[in-house]
Amino acid sequence: MAATATETKRDQQTRVTRDELIQGLQEDLAREYKAIIQYIIYSQKLDGAKYMNIADELAVHAHEELDHALAVANQLDYFGEYPTEKPKAVDTPKDNDGMLWADLHAEDVTVENYRERIKQAEALGEYALAEVLQDLIKQEQDHQIDLATALGITADPSQRKGQGPKSSS
Ligand SMILES: [Fe+2]
Ligand SMILES: [Fe+2]
Repeated sequence: MAATATETKRDQQTRVTRDELIQGLQEDLAREYKAIIQYIIYSQKLDGAKYMNIADELAVHAHEELDHALAVANQLDYFGEYPTEKPKAVDTPKDNDGMLWADLHAEDVTVENYRERIKQAEALGEYALAEVLQDLIKQEQDHQIDLATALGITADPSQRKGQGPKSSS
């Protein structure tokens, strides 16, 4: 009885369902695809001596995003779901800072979503999933720092409200 009461309380507090968690993971996967594509393109299109280091770094990010996509797809398969094949809309700015801002904004959205997903996973007792997502979020935060450093701004989204071009996500 105690366990049931706890479960009920937990459900009322979070009102998260397994379907919502799975739908969220599909969106996460679509964001990872978008990240892979953007990092591939921008790592090649960043131009000028000042941007060479971060261009190399973006190529590293592309590989890490592929690992994230595989990890999320693996979790979806575990839940008996067919992983989405559709990326979120890819941004195609042509200037150096525009590309870095597009990636940074995408990372902000990704981190925010993984935070939410971890809460949902924990609320549903999916602790293994929560652990996988914790590893992903750490790398996404490193990506935020790399991009913010290259732009000469803070990595903390709450500290840079209204700064820089926005992108679709
Ligand atoms: Fe990622
Ligand atoms: Fe990332």
